[in-house]
Amino acid sequence: MSSAPSAPASRPLRASASGPLKGRVSVPGDKSISHRALMLGAIAVGETRIEGLLEGEDVLSTAAAMRAFGATVTRDGPGAWRVNGLGVGGLLEPDGVIDYGNAGTGSRLALGLVGSHAFAATFTGDASLRRRPMGRVIDPLRRMGVQVLSRSGDRLPLTVRGPDLPIPIEYRVPVPSAQVKSSVLLAGVNVPGVTTVIEPVMTRDHTERMLQAFGAEIEIEAGEDGARVIRLEGRPNLKGQPIAVPGDPSSAAFPLVAALIVEGSDITIGGVLLNPTRTGLIDTLLEMGADIAIENRRTVGGETVGDLRARSSRLKGVAVPPERSAFMIDEYPILAIAAAFAEGQTVMQGVGELRVKESDRIAAVAAGLAANGITAEEGPESLVVTGGATTIGGGKVATHLDHRIAMSFLVLGLAGKKPVEVDDAATIATSFPEFRGLMGELGAHFEDGAPAA
Ligand code: S3P
Repeated sequence: MSSAPSAPASRPLRASASGPLKGRVSVPGDKSISHRALMLGAIAVGETRIEGLLEGEDVLSTAAAMRAFGATVTRDGPGAWRVNGLGVGGLLEPDGVIDYGNAGTGSRLALGLVGSHAFAATFTGDASLRRRPMGRVIDPLRRMGVQVLSRSGDRLPLTVRGPDLPIPIEYRVPVPSAQVKSSVLLAGVNVPGVTTVIEPVMTRDHTERMLQAFGAEIEIEAGEDGARVIRLEGRPNLKGQPIAVPGDPSSAAFPLVAALIVEGSDITIGGVLLNPTRTGLIDTLLEMGADIAIENRRTVGGETVGDLRARSSRLKGVAVPPERSAFMIDEYPILAIAAAFAEGQTVMQGVGELRVKESDRIAAVAAGLAANGITAEEGPESLVVTGGATTIGGGKVATHLDHRIAMSFLVLGLAGKKPVEVDDAATIATSFPEFRGLMGELGAHFEDGAPAA
């Protein structure tokens, strides 16, 4: 097995107080939908034409992985991609190690997708991904009869080898995780019989929607205890589909919050995905008193999208309902930044999953806030931010290879009294390569910092 690639040089970046943010922008395509479009395209028969694909490093890792498993993946122009798939069960054994870089979603979904095939595939990733738990997707695969050889703690690098005849399972997802649900469903596509996934807490539903659009038979109903029960008939005939990827609400979150906290701002972000499993941040910001208008609501490719107009606002702290956490899971770091400018405390509970993201986001956010003069109290599964500090900024923030920590604290610097420096902005390219240019267009002020000696 090859060793993991060495980490690229870090790129410090500094953000400082900006004038009002103004203008209209569009954010790149949704990361969750982009990964899934490439994967389903790879196991469908015929052509899947994708428009608006996110060309961040994470998604490019999935494109490379699907090629390594035998699919033909072609880039026709910016965001315009074509996948010619191999049909269900048709993926091929790769002849090298699949390096998924920083991409938790890509690697976990792909482990499911290929795990039910009767060949061996070895996955690795960067230092952040190699620390993250994979047991959550490996356990259900083992129950399907997949052999897994992994590093201790079920971490990458690991190898999966599917059996000749995988077993359909009924799986109750133990943590609220769309990645786990999706991994089991994608494995189930190549398993004869019915695979059942039970989710006690609903999470983003892009996999179910897209599988249905490609022609799979999926039934979804409420179980006796209110859990969501998803039944997938295995070995369907999937047919390639045209897919228009809407703007990523998790990327829109950064200019959105920046406009709310930088005085005098008025921006519009066009074409943002408004699937209700992804709008938790908007709901919370509205409760905090944010001036956000959703304009031009429309349906694109089966998903609701809209334009978000945001103007600077006087925010007040709120208690975020813990049951909302799955619908805003990636947005807690940027919510914490909004909370720093709100009056009173913002209480985030039931957010233990943040500890196993690209970094331990509870710890990283609390440390970054403290370094910039903001009081934050960390609990095992909670974070409480006290708003209204008089001198915000002036700190250096450790991003721990986490793109959302980097972007969140750069947004803090735009509204702080003193500049904020993040130790590494290179990881932003995993999900939002256009971040610096797009924010600059709106009037944000960034400067390269001095690289670490
Ligand atoms: C994702 C699910 C979430 C989210 C990640 C994308 C997905 O992870 O944090 O960025 O596309 O399914 P979990 O399902 O592990 O919470």
